[in-house]
Amino acid sequence: MNKVGLVGWRGMVGSVLMERMQQEGDFSKINATFFTTSQAGQLGPDFAGDAKPLLSAYDIDALRGMDIVITCQGGDYTKEVYPALRESGWQGYWIDAASALRMADDSIIVLDPVNIDVIEQGLEQGVKTFVGGNCTVSLMLLALGGLFERDLIEWVSPMTYQAASGAGAKNMRELISQMGAIHSEVADLLDNPHSAILEIDKRVSEKLQSDSLPKDQFGVPLAGSLIPWIDVPMDSGQSKEEWKAQVEANKILGSSKSPIPVDGLCVRIGAMRCHSQALTIKLKEDISVEEIESILASHNEWVKVIPNDRSLSSTDLTPVKVTGTLSIPIGRIRKLAMGPEYISAFTVGDQLLWGAAEPLRRMLRIITG
Ligand code: HSE
Repeated sequence: MNKVGLVGWRGMVGSVLMERMQQEGDFSKINATFFTTSQAGQLGPDFAGDAKPLLSAYDIDALRGMDIVITCQGGDYTKEVYPALRESGWQGYWIDAASALRMADDSIIVLDPVNIDVIEQGLEQGVKTFVGGNCTVSLMLLALGGLFERDLIEWVSPMTYQAASGAGAKNMRELISQMGAIHSEVADLLDNPHSAILEIDKRVSEKLQSDSLPKDQFGVPLAGSLIPWIDVPMDSGQSKEEWKAQVEANKILGSSKSPIPVDGLCVRIGAMRCHSQALTIKLKEDISVEEIESILASHNEWVKVIPNDRSLSSTDLTPVKVTGTLSIPIGRIRKLAMGPEYISAFTVGDQLLWGAAEPLRRMLRIITG
């Protein structure tokens, strides 16, 4: 059995990964060793049998003993440890949730329902570094896989509605704290059915603009508002999150030499862990909505076409419906007024599952069998 070192298994993405690996029986296929950046020597978890002492995640010799390292520890850890490990001559497989190595020439971005051919070709050619994609990119590609596979997309513009979890666990807590602070401010008025709505609105607005609203993480209110910028600025005027869409999507699809344009605005909203995206798509051909739906639905077992219906869209095409599941619903599919090749779509996905943990554990299974 392959010796697999697990790093960053206690954080938010790592915990989701551990849960999925237990659900799918992945630990029975590997000989697991748990590493830590801060608690070496303490007793580790018992996911994979009896708990053993944790090894230091900075111990290159210990890491060198692994056939595979899988890490959710984050980009700073990857930047510090990965080069040293490779320089030591280690030839093992490195599977990483962080973005640090995504665009490296010798890495592959993994999303096997979409790019199993790219992954298999890479394995044959001796690629040893496999990285999970940006969450919005992976979720969009799973939803639109059928149209990309048939080369039917000329360009796509994703306008995103991204959940607090994408910014981190502390940000999720802060969103709820902000919601609670808003409610507390007007709880007495809400209890009185005769209170004036404009008075409630005034007090809510004052609370949102006051220094007393918890906002150490986001820096601004997210509850009752939104943030139309995610990650650092690029020279192009894009945010880095927006820049990733085209470069990562085309790397995943293996089309970087002749990239399909993918560009839109990324916006943070007050959802917990599901990212949503409104897509404007220019198709290469005028094909019917029925055909588009059938192409999308048949691509993979997780994508689900939701009919363009008010009630079903309101219940089934939402973060609340999708949270904690691997389901990738896509709906609101219709022709746009711009012409018969222009269609709209709306899709939702859990950014901790398909957006982060799931492609990593599936890559592990591709290697370990
Ligand atoms: N960058 C994403 C976000 C999450 O901020 O929502 C990770 O892909």
